[in-house]
Amino acid sequence: SRTVSRNADGVVTVGGIDVKTLAEEFGTPAYFLDEADFRARCRAWHEAFQEQGEDADVFYAGKAFLSRAVVRWLNEEGLNLDVCSAGELATALAAGMPAERIALHGNNKSTAEIERAVEEGVGRIVLDSFQEIVRVAHIAQRLGRRQRVQIRITVGVEAHTHEFIATAHEDQKFGIPLAGGQAAEAVRRALKLDGLELIGIHSHIGSQIFDTSGFEVAAHRVVGLLKEIRDEHGVELPEIDLGGGLGIAYTSEDDPREPQEIAKALRDIVHRECDTAGLAVPRLSVEPGRAIVGPTAFTLYEVGTVKELPGLRTYVSVDGGMSDNIRTALYDAEYSVALVSRASTAEPMLSRVVGKHCESGDIVVRDAFLPADLAPGDLIAVPATGAYCRSMASNYNHALRPPVVAVRDGQAREIVRRETEEDLLRLDVG
Ligand code: LLP
Repeated sequence: SRTVSRNADGVVTVGGIDVKTLAEEFGTPAYFLDEADFRARCRAWHEAFQEQGEDADVFYAGKAFLSRAVVRWLNEEGLNLDVCSAGELATALAAGMPAERIALHGNNKSTAEIERAVEEGVGRIVLDSFQEIVRVAHIAQRLGRRQRVQIRITVGVEAHTHEFIATAHEDQKFGIPLAGGQAAEAVRRALKLDGLELIGIHSHIGSQIFDTSGFEVAAHRVVGLLKEIRDEHGVELPEIDLGGGLGIAYTSEDDPREPQEIAKALRDIVHRECDTAGLAVPRLSVEPGRAIVGPTAFTLYEVGTVKELPGLRTYVSVDGGMSDNIRTALYDAEYSVALVSRASTAEPMLSRVVGKHCESGDIVVRDAFLPADLAPGDLIAVPATGAYCRSMASNYNHALRPPVVAVRDGQAREIVRRETEEDLLRLDVG
């Protein structure tokens, strides 16, 4: 985050507040989110896509992290919102996001989810299968509506990222393959149905991607489909969405692209392809999640047991773990970590930061150097935990999910409070 620094005593401060004060007030583990940084990133994306003076929309991907405060910030910064469940939709609506600025995603939307979205008047539903084309059309017709939709296609790009978060190759559950004329067939069917207004084609190639070439290939193929549609039906679809997926720096090894770079690359290719095909340039949208919220938060942990295994490494146990950050266990994700509650000149020691759960895979940071004088009670911070950490947090071992605390101008406030034992027991009705 942009407002982190170390004071004269070696204590890290964020948004003007030191981490010891934050830990006293909010406890640990906790996620601290820099609101000014979040808003700055929203603006950077918004401006990058408005720059060419054309219409373009940025849909923040709510799955990365969503709360009512986040929805209000998005609203104020002029971003739209991508939701993928009834729960995310309900949060968006509860916080006052206008329905027409919401897009609904998902490979298995329930009838109830589709009905709610259509009734509320969401700006678009992204259709993910042949069955869903018919399902949404019927629901819309029954409700006397004509629902704006996009069709999500898989363009056959191999994104260089972890298998579980790559989504444009064909052998997987999302989207309708471009290959074999399937996407063209989906368009044919959607155009015939009265309940649907087909406004565009959607592609999302994956997540935590660093190079723009995959997006360029996707743009090329999506525009190719628009041309096929024009040639076959005489219709020019007015929109394309190229999804999210821009990577962020988890460690100093990562070299992320800036929003301007991705905006320019996408613009250039879409313009070039449309010119060649004789198509009007469609309205472009993107759906970044991680690139907006990921870098804006860190997790603060208190060190508990420090166990040295001579000749191997030192295991540093913290008061959270895979329940507040599953990404290391799930994707072999890499993080960095730092001692933040004091300065230390001790030798660096090879450490593994682990949680308190009953699994040996409960690792927060696989390999890290921490000072050899690290002791119980020290505070350590793991940066870049704004995306897919609180949103994928669990109650494993009946852990109480940590709060998300927004810090701004020297003020800190919980935007998601810490879970309590009462919260856990409330659901346990046996
Ligand atoms: N649009 C669609 C249709 C998506 O499926 C996703 C992410 C996004 C946008 C946002 O992608 P982003 O810009 O945040 O990379 N849990 C995984 C990431 C899964 C992403 C799923 N879809 C992780 O922790 O890395």
